[in-house]
Amino acid sequence: MTVIITIDGIAASGKSSVASRVARALNIPYISSGYLYRAVTHLVYVLQIDPSNQKAILEALETHPLTLIPHPEENEVWQGEHNYTSALHTSEVDRMVSEIAQHPQVRDWVNVQLKKLPAPFVAEGRDMGTAVFPQAKHKFYLTARSKVRAQRRAKERPEDIASIQAALELRDQEDQVQSKPAEDALLIDTSDLTLEQVVERILKGVHT
Ligand code: DC
Repeated sequence: MTVIITIDGIAASGKSSVASRVARALNIPYISSGYLYRAVTHLVYVLQIDPSNQKAILEALETHPLTLIPHPEENEVWQGEHNYTSALHTSEVDRMVSEIAQHPQVRDWVNVQLKKLPAPFVAEGRDMGTAVFPQAKHKFYLTARSKVRAQRRAKERPEDIASIQAALELRDQEDQVQSKPAEDALLIDTSDLTLEQVVERILKGVHT
């Protein structure tokens, strides 16, 4: 099977959990493109690079290469000997990642890394079904109301729901350009669905 399944969607719409479950059900890896953007952001933070300086970021990626390791249940990102994985979902990274992800050459760098990975896989992000894998056979796009997304994310962050919701809405705006659904994607609003129901819908779409 050399199938590529793309699951795109807005921040905290449940993409990672859904993609990981779908991948496990199909016994194939899942790829989190957000992890790579987050890892670049963490590198910028560690090296204290000016986040607006695209050239310096690209030079840092040459001297400090990042490697994404996809597994069916999770992804890891390594920088040389350093496992970056547990540092990727902090509020500092959340705040800076959109700015980093807007640099066109950073996007090109991420996309080159993603395109090197051998199919089959489930790819999750913002532009997997549009810019990176337009040839994918099965495309899905997840949305959810911002309140619901904030409630979900509150389980993983120390901040209160109102400030998480405000940060998510800000990031929705910042991410707007690269977050358009592919024309041939199936849209799923996950607000009133359980994780299992979303996974079921996607697996049904893949098998029809
Ligand atoms: O999916 P996520 O919240 O982990 O993504 C983190 C950030 O990376 C998000 O704010 C936008 C950016 N991103 C992107 O621009 N394109 C992708 N394919 C994946 C993520």
